[in-house]
Amino acid sequence: MRILSGIQPTGLPHLGNYFGMMKPAIELQEKGEALYFIADYHALTTVRDPEALRRNTREIAIDFLACGLDPAKARLFRQSDIPCVPELSWILSTVTPMGLLERCHSYKDKLAKGMSASLGLFSYPVLMAADILAYDSDVVPVGKDQKQHLEVARDIAIKINELYGPVFKLPEPIIRDESAAILGTDGAKMSKSYGNTVELFLEEAPLKKKIMGIQTDSTPVEAPKPIEGSAILGLYRHVASPADYAAMEADFLAGGKGYGDFKKRLFAAVWESFAPMREKRKEFSSDPAEVDRILREGAQKATAITVPVMKRLRHAIGLS
Ligand code: ADP
Ligand code: TRP
Repeated sequence: MRILSGIQPTGLPHLGNYFGMMKPAIELQEKGEALYFIADYHALTTVRDPEALRRNTREIAIDFLACGLDPAKARLFRQSDIPCVPELSWILSTVTPMGLLERCHSYKDKLAKGMSASLGLFSYPVLMAADILAYDSDVVPVGKDQKQHLEVARDIAIKINELYGPVFKLPEPIIRDESAAILGTDGAKMSKSYGNTVELFLEEAPLKKKIMGIQTDSTPVEAPKPIEGSAILGLYRHVASPADYAAMEADFLAGGKGYGDFKKRLFAAVWESFAPMREKRKEFSSDPAEVDRILREGAQKATAITVPVMKRLRHAIGLS
């Protein structure tokens, strides 16, 4: 089984990225041939600061390694180090109906947030389809926000197969219900582009500040607190033991404790659950040459996988 996923270097990884994508991806490295990349071409649709792009790319690689990505088992690489990806994206774009892309929520959401409508932003899902199809990927672990993009990738693969015979495998998304959409500090989906993130490796004081700043309603201390849609409980579920989680949920329902108390418990659990990874992170941060080596080796191995796929496609469509 070939497993593939990507993350954009548009900022530093946050708890939503971790529980929605990085953790499932790292667990899956035991189950098949795993390919995980940093989607720097995708990030170019929104990041205009070259230094930030370079820094975020490196930080994401370090975070992934610190969180347990094992380069002996999984390939870690930069999207832009794989030569065939833009070529494949072009080929796929020639069979992609405009309507398919016009329906994409993430494009419409980005315009609604004031981003200008560039061709790259519009064709983002085609590039993503290229990422997935270039490696004959079987499964793609992602958060719920990527579901539609996965459907587009499948539709494009089906279109190529209809036109030219069986060229592509159809990839399946893996979306875990319990971490499909982690909420941010404002109660909306946590996202680098919404400014509501809690990054994985903040220092103690800024982490505490972010968590204490989670927006809550004005339910008085004595009264029971709503558990539905609570960002505090949503995060706590992922970092606390089942017993501690049940205790907090019971305290929400019973009333008598304020949100400040719950946030302190959440902070302590987040801080503790990332402690071992924080140590590993220090090792990788102090060895940039090793991180570069891992990315280079990952790119070489990933490129080798794309060679027969591209040969098959080029022949099927008449380019060779
Ligand atoms: P962001 O929205 O912060 O820019 P990306 O688009 O780079 O994050 O997403 C990287 C991966 O993390 C994707 O698989 C995405 O579905 C997942 N992800 C991002 N935010 C969340 C979230 N709040 N909950 C669950 N998964 C998420
Ligand atoms: N669009 C994805 C996101 O924003 C990142 C991504 C790019 C990706 N190419 C991919 C994810 C291929 C999975 C497979 O999260």
